[in-house]
Amino acid sequence: MKIFGHRGAAGLVAENTLASIAEALIHPIDGIEIDVHCCKSGELVVIHDETLARTTNGIGDIADCTLEQLKQFTTKEGFLIPTLAEVLQFVNGRCTLNIELKGKKTALPTLDLIEQYIQQRDWEFHDFILSSFDHSQLFDIQKKTTKFKLGVLTEENSKAVLSTAHNLEAYSIHPPVASLTKDDVMQIHDHGFKLYVWTVNKESSIRRLKKWNVDAIITDFPNFA
Ligand code: G3P
Ligand code: CA
Repeated sequence: MKIFGHRGAAGLVAENTLASIAEALIHPIDGIEIDVHCCKSGELVVIHDETLARTTNGIGDIADCTLEQLKQFTTKEGFLIPTLAEVLQFVNGRCTLNIELKGKKTALPTLDLIEQYIQQRDWEFHDFILSSFDHSQLFDIQKKTTKFKLGVLTEENSKAVLSTAHNLEAYSIHPPVASLTKDDVMQIHDHGFKLYVWTVNKESSIRRLKKWNVDAIITDFPNFA
């Protein structure tokens, strides 16, 4: 079972920062999950919420700030909000990167950027999993290229997205840990999809999912997992 650090290593260091990603990379992980939004000047930035208030010393919407403005703020722990380009440069193919397309219209700019890094740096197509709750963005990617692994995120029962996953020719389904059953795991696998389960922090859940042959867990505590 693969281990992915959630938002870097969100349980250990401020989520979605280079410091959190650096922390995740210290541990024997397979991948890192991060969230992306587009800011007003067009760059992709790595942050979970569409607003600044919860995680930074700023207020307002990401979409209303230029990158220059966003770089004036820090997380409450004093870290800068990284761009996706900075994350790609920093990780440079050292692990799989699960990029969650959290913000609106992030699919195509993300595709453009990661294709540049595949051409110029130590990244390969198979190093990426592009996931989203907004399945229309995954269809936007599928229309452009079938080279990337697509992950169908769901807040509900994983079986409810099976037909979407088939239509997308997705790689994986990403359900929340709370609602997943052993029967779901078997059915999803029978349909040929991997299961990436979030956010798995408890020892009992980790052991249970491992017994069920889940493919990957996404955890705030990659050290513990
Ligand atoms: O990608 C898995 C998980 O991160 C989805 O939920 O809210 O933590 O982005 P959230
Ligand atoms: Ca996420």
